[in-house]
Amino acid sequence: MKIHVTDRDGGEHELEATNGWRVMEIIRDAGLPITAECGGACACATCHVYVDPSWVERVEPRGEEENDMLDLAFEVQENSRLSCQITMTPEIDGLKVTLAPE
Ligand code: FES
Repeated sequence: MKIHVTDRDGGEHELEATNGWRVMEIIRDAGLPITAECGGACACATCHVYVDPSWVERVEPRGEEENDMLDLAFEVQENSRLSCQITMTPEIDGLKVTLAPE
């Protein structure tokens, strides 16, 4: 499986994705600049990404904790997600996201 990530300079990266991993972990392990300060506990919002509009409907919806945390994040958009709260599954093979500004 793959995910496609656009970095903050507009660079595009195709990353190998493992079933059951969080999208944040895939991005972090590929060495892209995602802080993910809390390690995936939904407590920091430094793993903020924008999900490509064509994928928003296919990704599991935001949870309550994620919404609360996004309330504290900067430059939040309708397609904002915390990438530690998206689990990789075959259904989202090919997912496209963009790293949000820090
Ligand atoms: S890594 Fe902290 S909220 Fe996602």
